[in-house]
Amino acid sequence: MSDFISALPKAELHIHIEGSLEPEMMFALAGRNGVKLPYDSVEAVRAAYSFANLQEFLDLYYQGMSVLLREEDFYDLTLAYLRRSAADGVKHTEIFFDPQGHTSRGVAFATVFNGIHRALQDGERELGITSKLILCFLRHLPAEDAMATLEAAMDYREHIVGVGLDSSENGHPPELFTAVFAKAREAGFLAVAHAGEEGPPAYVWGALNALAVDRIDHGNRALEDPALVAELAARSMPLTVCPLSNLCLGGVTDLADHPLRAMLDHGLFVTLNSDDPAYFGGYVNENYRAMQQALGLSDTVLGQIARNSFAASFLDDETKAARI
Ligand code: ADE
Ligand code: ZN
Repeated sequence: MSDFISALPKAELHIHIEGSLEPEMMFALAGRNGVKLPYDSVEAVRAAYSFANLQEFLDLYYQGMSVLLREEDFYDLTLAYLRRSAADGVKHTEIFFDPQGHTSRGVAFATVFNGIHRALQDGERELGITSKLILCFLRHLPAEDAMATLEAAMDYREHIVGVGLDSSENGHPPELFTAVFAKAREAGFLAVAHAGEEGPPAYVWGALNALAVDRIDHGNRALEDPALVAELAARSMPLTVCPLSNLCLGGVTDLADHPLRAMLDHGLFVTLNSDDPAYFGGYVNENYRAMQQALGLSDTVLGQIARNSFAASFLDDETKAARI
């Protein structure tokens, strides 16, 4: 890893905490909780990580979550992610969590939240990493489920900065969640949504116009629509780009063809992130490194992307200004 990338202070804005569950921890938690996994070894888990598309990944991602049952599990998962990212020069992180992936298995919202929240507090003390928490709705489930999850989150309003939209994109357009996001925004939550990861440009328009998002997660397929590119540029809309994820899920077959190049050329407000680092073979620095190598990005551009990550964060303006 180049010293320059390692030393760059950065914020991570697109990380699913459940996607940081390394196979070693998956096995340890399965043992601790008496959960039977359909694998004999850590190597067998890793060998299963070969995905043709988003859905193939999501099937394993939801299966992996089955070992997370107690508050301590969510605590250990989150603290391990914070320690690993601190080693990558991450100074601030905005973590997604998927409560419906847990409440649907009988794990209480409070168990999930308390474990993650306590780790974020301890992580800030131990490592100096600041953080925000973003609750994601699973878009393959009905909007009523998302609404009930939002209700459950109201008790934790002061500790959750925003809401997001993730899971299977195709066939689940943002407009299905218009009322949920309107209610969330009314309650003071900021908003993000995965859009244009696999879905068409219309879904990115939907995230902007129906959900009134503050950031777009991925946004790759926005490049197919010149008017949308112009709109994203005019709004200085941050995109949380995740190159190794795109490579692992077939969004690009070669990182040299990654849309980051075109995004930069169009003056879009891009950041680099890991998405689900335990599944896609790299934390944030590996994503910077991969893009540097594939696109020949200069230190100046890499430094700008790292500054963008703070500028696009949900930190307050004063804290942001001190870090950019
Ligand atoms: N949930 C976890 N990772 C995801 C991704 N890359 N896209 C959509 N939903 C997700
Ligand atoms: Zn994601």
